[in-house]
Amino acid sequence: MNDINPPHARVIVQQISKISARRIAEVGVLKGECANAILDRVGNKLLQYWLIDRWLAYPGLPKITQPQWDEHYDYVKTLAAQYPCAKVVRLASVDAAERMPDESLDLVFMDADHTYEGVYKDILAWLPKVRVGGTMLFHDFAHHAWPGVRQAVTELLPSAFPDSWDSNTAIYYKQERGSHYGSGAQNSIERGSGI
Ligand SMILES: C[S@@+](CC[C@H](N)C(=O)[O-])C[C@H]1O[C@@H](n2cnc3c(N)ncnc32)[C@H](O)[C@@H]1O
Repeated sequence: MNDINPPHARVIVQQISKISARRIAEVGVLKGECANAILDRVGNKLLQYWLIDRWLAYPGLPKITQPQWDEHYDYVKTLAAQYPCAKVVRLASVDAAERMPDESLDLVFMDADHTYEGVYKDILAWLPKVRVGGTMLFHDFAHHAWPGVRQAVTELLPSAFPDSWDSNTAIYYKQERGSHYGSGAQNSIERGSGI
Protein backbone atom coordinates (compact mmCIF):
# COMPACT_ATOMS: atom_id res chain seq x y z
CA MET A 1 0.00 0.00 0.00
CA ASN A 2 2.79 2.46 0.84
CA ASP A 3 3.98 2.35 -2.75
CA ILE A 4 0.84 4.16 -3.96
CA ASN A 5 1.43 7.74 -5.05
CA PRO A 6 0.28 10.45 -4.57
CA PRO A 7 -0.24 9.76 -0.81
CA HIS A 8 -3.92 10.76 -0.89
CA ALA A 9 -4.51 8.02 -3.47
CA ARG A 10 -3.26 5.54 -0.85
CA VAL A 11 -5.87 6.82 1.63
CA ILE A 12 -8.60 6.49 -0.98
CA VAL A 13 -7.57 2.95 -1.89
CA GLN A 14 -7.52 2.03 1.82
CA GLN A 15 -10.99 3.49 2.32
CA ILE A 16 -12.32 1.72 -0.76
CA SER A 17 -11.14 -1.53 0.72
CA LYS A 18 -12.29 -0.73 4.27
CA ILE A 19 -15.91 0.04 3.35
CA SER A 20 -16.03 -2.23 0.27
CA ALA A 21 -16.78 0.78 -1.94
CA ARG A 22 -17.84 -0.03 -5.49
CA ARG A 23 -19.30 3.34 -6.54
CA ILE A 24 -17.09 6.35 -6.03
CA ALA A 25 -16.64 9.91 -7.29
CA GLU A 26 -13.54 12.10 -7.48
CA VAL A 27 -14.57 15.76 -7.58
CA GLY A 28 -11.64 17.73 -9.02
CA VAL A 29 -9.51 15.53 -11.24
CA LEU A 30 -7.03 17.84 -13.00
CA LYS A 31 -4.73 15.60 -15.06
CA GLY A 32 -5.86 12.36 -13.47
CA GLU A 33 -2.77 11.66 -11.38
CA CYS A 34 -4.75 10.38 -8.43
CA ALA A 35 -7.35 8.68 -10.64
CA ASN A 36 -4.60 6.87 -12.52
CA ALA A 37 -3.14 5.45 -9.30
CA ILE A 38 -6.55 4.35 -8.00
CA LEU A 39 -7.75 2.84 -11.26
CA ASP A 40 -4.47 0.99 -11.63
CA ARG A 41 -4.93 -0.56 -8.16
CA VAL A 42 -8.65 -1.19 -7.89
CA GLY A 43 -10.24 -0.14 -11.20
CA ASN A 44 -11.30 -3.70 -11.98
CA LYS A 45 -13.22 -3.97 -8.66
CA LEU A 46 -15.28 -0.79 -9.07
CA LEU A 47 -18.70 -0.43 -10.66
CA GLN A 48 -18.57 3.36 -11.01
CA TYR A 49 -15.72 5.85 -10.80
CA TRP A 50 -17.11 9.28 -11.62
CA LEU A 51 -14.37 11.71 -12.70
CA ILE A 52 -15.79 15.19 -12.27
CA ASP A 53 -14.08 18.44 -13.23
CA ARG A 54 -14.81 21.62 -15.20
CA TRP A 55 -11.40 21.58 -16.90
CA LEU A 56 -11.87 25.32 -17.20
CA ALA A 57 -9.37 28.11 -16.46
CA TYR A 58 -9.96 29.63 -12.98
CA PRO A 59 -8.10 31.71 -10.37
CA GLY A 60 -7.39 28.71 -8.09
CA LEU A 61 -4.81 27.37 -10.58
CA PRO A 62 -3.91 30.53 -12.53
CA LYS A 63 -0.91 29.15 -14.42
CA ILE A 64 -2.88 26.58 -16.41
CA THR A 65 -4.07 27.93 -19.75
CA GLN A 66 -7.31 26.79 -21.41
CA PRO A 67 -5.47 24.71 -24.07
CA GLN A 68 -3.68 22.94 -21.21
CA TRP A 69 -6.99 22.29 -19.45
CA ASP A 70 -8.30 20.78 -22.68
CA GLU A 71 -5.23 18.54 -22.87
CA HIS A 72 -5.81 17.36 -19.30
CA TYR A 73 -9.43 16.59 -20.15
CA ASP A 74 -8.37 14.60 -23.23
CA TYR A 75 -5.84 12.67 -21.17
CA VAL A 76 -8.45 11.78 -18.53
CA LYS A 77 -10.88 10.66 -21.23
CA THR A 78 -8.18 8.36 -22.66
CA LEU A 79 -7.45 7.00 -19.18
CA ALA A 80 -11.14 6.42 -18.47
CA ALA A 81 -11.63 4.58 -21.76
CA GLN A 82 -9.44 1.77 -20.38
CA TYR A 83 -11.82 1.05 -17.46
CA PRO A 84 -15.51 0.17 -17.82
CA CYS A 85 -16.26 1.73 -14.41
CA ALA A 86 -14.80 5.15 -15.28
CA LYS A 87 -17.14 7.94 -16.39
CA VAL A 88 -15.91 11.46 -17.14
CA VAL A 89 -18.20 14.40 -16.34
CA ARG A 90 -17.11 17.84 -17.49
CA LEU A 91 -19.28 20.02 -15.28
CA ALA A 92 -19.01 22.28 -12.26
CA SER A 93 -19.09 20.24 -9.07
CA VAL A 94 -22.53 21.32 -7.83
CA ASP A 95 -24.08 20.83 -11.29
CA ALA A 96 -22.68 17.30 -11.44
CA ALA A 97 -24.01 16.59 -7.93
CA GLU A 98 -27.50 17.66 -8.99
CA ARG A 99 -27.51 14.90 -11.61
CA MET A 100 -26.44 12.21 -9.17
CA PRO A 101 -29.14 10.24 -7.30
CA ASP A 102 -29.15 10.63 -3.51
CA GLU A 103 -27.30 7.94 -1.55
CA SER A 104 -25.95 6.42 -4.75
CA LEU A 105 -22.26 6.59 -3.87
CA ASP A 106 -20.11 4.72 -1.35
CA LEU A 107 -17.28 7.23 -1.35
CA VAL A 108 -16.73 10.79 -2.57
CA PHE A 109 -13.26 12.29 -2.72
CA MET A 110 -13.44 16.10 -2.69
CA ASP A 111 -10.51 17.91 -4.28
CA ALA A 112 -12.06 20.76 -6.30
CA ASP A 113 -12.57 24.34 -5.15
CA HIS A 114 -10.39 24.82 -2.05
CA THR A 115 -11.95 28.05 -0.76
CA TYR A 116 -14.16 28.05 2.33
CA GLU A 117 -17.25 28.99 0.31
CA GLY A 118 -16.47 26.39 -2.38
CA VAL A 119 -15.91 23.53 0.05
CA TYR A 120 -18.99 24.54 2.02
CA LYS A 121 -21.20 24.44 -1.07
CA ASP A 122 -19.62 21.18 -2.20
CA ILE A 123 -20.33 19.48 1.13
CA LEU A 124 -23.97 20.53 0.98
CA ALA A 125 -24.21 19.32 -2.63
CA TRP A 126 -22.36 16.01 -2.27
CA LEU A 127 -23.09 14.70 1.21
CA PRO A 128 -26.65 13.64 0.27
CA LYS A 129 -25.17 11.59 -2.59
CA VAL A 130 -23.22 9.40 -0.17
CA ARG A 131 -24.97 6.36 1.28
CA VAL A 132 -25.27 5.89 5.02
CA GLY A 133 -22.09 4.09 6.08
CA GLY A 134 -20.21 5.69 3.18
CA THR A 135 -17.28 8.08 3.35
CA MET A 136 -16.32 11.56 2.22
CA LEU A 137 -12.64 12.40 1.95
CA PHE A 138 -11.27 15.95 1.74
CA HIS A 139 -7.85 16.63 0.32
CA ASP A 140 -5.71 19.52 1.58
CA PHE A 141 -7.53 19.51 4.92
CA ALA A 142 -4.29 20.54 6.66
CA HIS A 143 -2.68 22.55 3.87
CA HIS A 144 -1.53 25.98 5.08
CA ALA A 145 -2.40 27.55 1.72
CA TRP A 146 -6.05 26.43 1.92
CA PRO A 147 -7.37 27.10 5.44
CA GLY A 148 -10.92 27.20 4.08
CA VAL A 149 -10.95 23.44 3.53
CA ARG A 150 -10.42 22.70 7.19
CA GLN A 151 -12.76 25.51 8.26
CA ALA A 152 -15.70 24.30 6.14
CA VAL A 153 -15.17 20.62 6.95
CA THR A 154 -14.82 21.21 10.69
CA GLU A 155 -17.87 23.45 10.73
CA LEU A 156 -20.20 21.19 8.76
CA LEU A 157 -18.80 17.77 9.60
CA PRO A 158 -17.28 18.05 13.08
CA SER A 159 -16.72 14.31 13.36
CA ALA A 160 -14.32 14.32 10.38
CA PHE A 161 -10.73 13.60 11.37
CA PRO A 162 -7.40 13.97 9.60
CA ASP A 163 -5.83 10.80 8.25
CA SER A 164 -2.18 11.79 8.43
CA TRP A 165 -0.09 14.81 7.64
CA ASP A 166 1.52 13.24 4.59
CA SER A 167 -1.80 12.45 2.93
CA ASN A 168 -3.23 15.81 4.01
CA THR A 169 -6.68 14.25 3.83
CA ALA A 170 -9.65 14.31 6.20
CA ILE A 171 -12.03 11.37 6.53
CA TYR A 172 -15.72 11.64 7.34
CA TYR A 173 -17.97 8.62 7.83
CA LYS A 174 -21.64 9.25 7.11
CA GLN A 175 -23.44 7.62 9.98
CA GLU A 176 -27.09 8.43 9.86
CA ARG A 177 -29.73 10.31 7.95
CA GLY A 178 -30.53 13.93 8.64
CA SER A 179 -28.06 14.79 11.38
CA HIS A 180 -24.67 14.95 9.75
CA TYR A 181 -24.09 18.65 9.83
CA GLY A 182 -22.48 20.68 12.55
CA SER A 183 -24.07 23.83 13.86
CA GLY A 184 -22.77 25.99 11.01
CA ALA A 185 -24.88 24.30 8.37
CA GLN A 186 -28.35 24.99 9.63
CA ASN A 187 -28.17 28.74 9.05
CA SER A 188 -26.75 28.33 5.61
CA ILE A 189 -29.31 25.77 4.54
CA GLU A 190 -32.02 28.18 5.67
CA ARG A 191 -30.26 31.10 3.96
CA GLY A 192 -29.72 29.06 0.82
CA SER A 193 -33.25 27.75 0.62
CA GLY A 194 -34.65 31.23 0.05
CA ILE A 195 -32.44 32.01 -2.95
C1 LIG B 1 -6.13 20.03 -6.91
S1 LIG B 1 -6.79 19.73 -8.48
C2 LIG B 1 -7.34 18.04 -8.39
C3 LIG B 1 -6.21 17.05 -8.29
C4 LIG B 1 -6.63 15.59 -8.41
N1 LIG B 1 -7.71 15.28 -7.48
C5 LIG B 1 -5.45 14.70 -8.10
O1 LIG B 1 -5.22 14.42 -6.92
O2 LIG B 1 -4.77 14.26 -9.03
C6 LIG B 1 -8.30 20.64 -8.42
C7 LIG B 1 -9.22 20.45 -9.61
O3 LIG B 1 -10.53 20.86 -9.23
C8 LIG B 1 -11.16 21.45 -10.33
N2 LIG B 1 -12.21 22.34 -9.83
C9 LIG B 1 -12.06 23.43 -9.02
N3 LIG B 1 -13.25 23.97 -8.74
C10 LIG B 1 -14.18 23.21 -9.37
C11 LIG B 1 -15.59 23.25 -9.45
N4 LIG B 1 -16.30 24.18 -8.80
N5 LIG B 1 -16.22 22.30 -10.18
C12 LIG B 1 -15.51 21.34 -10.84
N6 LIG B 1 -14.16 21.26 -10.79
C13 LIG B 1 -13.51 22.17 -10.07
C14 LIG B 1 -10.07 22.17 -11.08
O4 LIG B 1 -10.45 22.31 -12.43
C15 LIG B 1 -8.87 21.24 -10.85
O5 LIG B 1 -8.67 20.38 -11.92
